[in-house]
Formats: sequence, structure tokens, C-alpha cells
Amino acid sequence: MTRPMVTRLTQRPAWKALEAHYQAIKGKHLRQFFADDPKRGERFTAEAAGLYLDYSKNRITDETLHLLVQLAEECGLRERIEAMFRGDAINVTEQRAVLHIALRTPRNEKILVDGNDVVPGVHAVLDRMADFSDRVRSGDWQGHTGKRIRNIINIGIGGSDLGPVMAYEALRHYSLPNLSFRFISNVDGTDFVEATRGLDPEETLFIVCSKTFTTTETLTNAHTARRWMLRQIKDLDGVRKHFVAVSTNAEEVVRFGIDTANMFEFWDWVGGRYSMDSAIGLSTMIAIGPENFREMLAGFHAMDQHFYSAPFDRNLPVLMGLLSLWYNNFFGAQTLAVLPYEQYLKRFPAYLQQLTMESNGKHITLDGSHVDYQTSPIVWGEPGTNGQHSFYQLIHQGTRLIPCDFIGFCQTLNPLGDHHDLLMANLFAQTEALAFGKTEDEVKAEGVPDWLCPHRSFEGNRPTNTILAERLTPHTLGALVALYEQSVFTQGTIWQIDSFDQWGVELGKVLARRIGQELEDENGEPLKHDSSTNALIQRYNRLKQK
Ligand code: F6P
Repeated sequence: MTRPMVTRLTQRPAWKALEAHYQAIKGKHLRQFFADDPKRGERFTAEAAGLYLDYSKNRITDETLHLLVQLAEECGLRERIEAMFRGDAINVTEQRAVLHIALRTPRNEKILVDGNDVVPGVHAVLDRMADFSDRVRSGDWQGHTGKRIRNIINIGIGGSDLGPVMAYEALRHYSLPNLSFRFISNVDGTDFVEATRGLDPEETLFIVCSKTFTTTETLTNAHTARRWMLRQIKDLDGVRKHFVAVSTNAEEVVRFGIDTANMFEFWDWVGGRYSMDSAIGLSTMIAIGPENFREMLAGFHAMDQHFYSAPFDRNLPVLMGLLSLWYNNFFGAQTLAVLPYEQYLKRFPAYLQQLTMESNGKHITLDGSHVDYQTSPIVWGEPGTNGQHSFYQLIHQGTRLIPCDFIGFCQTLNPLGDHHDLLMANLFAQTEALAFGKTEDEVKAEGVPDWLCPHRSFEGNRPTNTILAERLTPHTLGALVALYEQSVFTQGTIWQIDSFDQWGVELGKVLARRIGQELEDENGEPLKHDSSTNALIQRYNRLKQK
């Protein structure tokens, strides 16, 4: 299928204007931006769905914003948003609709895919999940031998793991304390052994999550789990009480031995990395309960609605996407640090890595040509204040420009002396230090000897966003995830790439399957890889015998 040629991004008037504008303001310091406009800290802010975004500590002017918004408009962001919400097949390389927004659409609304309203199906599954979650939480759902279920283990990888783990950790405060939750993703047997250590199979429920139900890691772990369970329960019937599946692929679920009565479905229009609010979130719902889960969906939905209807210059996901693109494409920044000042969000950066990099790590445009600009930034991060004592040195005084997103909450879920004030003081201090720095003269005035002044001064002019919310709740988490989802969408639209496929993961899978056979069949055909791969395989085969 040939696709209509679109104007190259770098040829668009707004892009060209941004290039010229960048030359004009690249040398200007944030100290100057704030001196020129003392109200900027109140002006360059936006709020939606319980999240307050302060983007004033960015190297931008009104003109920058105006041009970035113009770029979004020239690239058809408005039309693309509408196409996504309408259920058009905007995932062109897989010819699928992209409708994670339907997962959080209220019951009374309609979204048509090929003429069928998908909303009733979404709610039917949510209702089944709620019923099942209540049964597990209350102890009504028992193991095969009549014992109460005390351990839930989610088996899945990528989007079938990162969302559930992140959400479980983020919302642990709301979780039922008498249930333990563990997550197995890696095909490395250590993951399985450590996750099941000390657990009684008769009290353990496995949720096997896989959109395709063909993913090697997940199926390998699921088969191992079944053997682990059967070693003690010794009755195949036990599978019914100890295994449930979440998938789009009923046939493979049945082939594995799980009854479809114990399967929670989702649909091919939900991408793996956009699935934590589908049935993939079953472990989250069991942990926090159906009501809290629905609150989380309401948070997602509130941000979706804001994204759909707010003007671009007051639209949080659009602003965040455009700012990220500003540094990525004009300042040459290569990474984006996400720094939650909230221990419960410790897995949020890892979650965002898949969301962002699997979505926008592409170099071919929708019309099949090679891009001549950078696409996705590399996303990384750690909770504050831990990161301050490890990598912040490089952000403050290294040679690279690293835009940062700081995330904080006004109220803590665990009040403990002055811990929370200390935590937040550090967040505010870091964004201030990064923006304004400390000049050599200021350092000298403190009596520091001349030779030491360059080492002890801070250039500043390091851009940051601050996202501040009242409290970490299921609703806030939903809004926060949707904020990043739609920011990723904004960037992918401007880069003219398909943010919803992931062909780049395929080659490694194919080669691993082939090499896997060679590791099993050491005396088979001579190896036909390159000399490096051949030598590594031979060495491995030789040493593994020991
Ligand atoms: O290999 C990448 C990927 O396809 C991700 O996109 C996905 O989230 C993950 O594998 C797991 O896939 P599945 O849910 O089908 O097991």
C-alpha cells in the first residue's frame, strides 16, 4: 500500500521559523528570562485533571510557544487527535485503531470501531474483573484445596508487566495488606525462583498476562508456574483455581490449559504499552479494589478529555510534548530525565521507558521515508532524593543538556516528622539550582579561593518542568499516565511516525529462537553466524557443561 507523501517536517514553515528562533535565543539564560518577566513563574503554568504544570523554567518565550503550537497545527495534530478518538486505524503499519482512550470512557458514551460500539464490551470486562477481584479480596475465591488465596503473581513482560508493577507500587498505599503481590517477567529463571520463594502453591494465584499469548518469556514462566503448582497440588483440575489469563488470544489461552471462563479479554486496538488500564490491570484491581480502579480510570479520562478539548497553548500533554521536542530537535538534547519525588513512583521511569521509547523510537515516517531529524529521547530517571546523590552531578555540571521532569505531591501518604517538607524542599531547590545556577562571582564573594571558583560555580540554564499534584491517589496516577501517553502521541504525530507499532523488537526474537535451537542441539549443523557470534556460542556451550 502506498501512502500519500506529506510535507517533510524540516521543510515546514514553523520548523524553519523555530530553527531561526533557536539561533536567536539559544544563548539567553533563564536568569534573564525571569528578569525580563518576573511573572513568568505564574504565567507559564497550566492545570488539568488535578495536575499543575509549571513549565516556566524552560528556555522559551511566548514566541517559542507560539511557533511550537504552530508546528503542531501544521503537522495536523488536531486532526490526528480526532482520528484517534474516532477510532480510525491510525496504527497504519498494523492497520489498527488505537483506542486505549476507550478503556476509560464512561459507560454512557459511544466509540465505534468498524460500526461497533466498543464501550459496552469494555465495561462488561471491567464488571467481570470487579466481580473476580471482590471474590479474591474477600476470600470467596479459594485455591483447589480450599485454602484462601494470599499471593497473587502476575506473569507478563513489557506492557503486560511494567504497567501492573508500576501501578501496584504507585498505589501500594491503597492495597489490601493481607494479599502479597509479586511479578515475574524475565525468562531468567532467577526471577521465577525468587518470586515464588517461600510461597505455598495452594495459596497462590497466577495471572498470566499476554496480549498475544505467544511471548516466549511469558509462556516459559507460565509453564514453569504450572509445574510448580502441580508438584504440590498433583491435580490438573487445580489449574482452574490457580491460573487466570488476560489476553486477546482465546485460542492460545485454551491451548495453554486455561478455561476461557477464567480469561479476561482485551482487544487488538489496545497496544501493550497502553494496556495497564485494560484487563492487564487485573492485579492492580485486586490490590486496590474495583472502586479505586474506577477512580484511576476517571483520572485517565479526565486527562483525555482535557487533551481532546483544551487549546494547545493550555493543553498539558501538548505542552509537554512540544517542550520535549524543542530540546530534542533544536537543542540536540538526547535524553529526558523523569524524577519523581515520591518513593511510590519508583517504577514510573521504567514504565515511561517502554511507553516513550517503544512508541517513538522509529526512523521511518508514515510515508515510508527516512527521517532527517531525531525522534524519541532516551528516558531515564530515579526517585528523588536518591538521584541527587548519584547522577545529578552530571545534570548540574556535566557537558550535556538534560531536560528534567520533576514530579511531586503537596501531601504525603506517610506523614513522618518533617520528612515530606525535606523531600519537597529538595525538589524545589533542585529546579531552582538547575535554572539559576551560581556564578563565579557569587562563589568568590563567599570567600572561595580563585582557583576553586570554576569548580564550585554552576552555569544553570538547565530546563525543567515541575508537575505538582495534591496527593498521590488512583485518580492522580491515571491522569499522570494519560499525560505522558498523550505527550508521546503529540511528539509522534509531529515526527510523522507510527507511535503504535514495534517492529524493531522482532529481529532479536527471530534470532533468539534460532540460536535457542543451536544451544539445545550442540552437535547439529555447523554454526553459520558471524565469527563473533559463533565463538560466543561455542564458548557458552563448552562452559555450560561444567
Ligand atoms: O516485544 C515487545 C512486546 O511486543 C511489547 O510491545 C509488549 O508489551 C510485550 O512484548 C509483551 O507482549 P505480550 O503482551 O503479547 O506478551
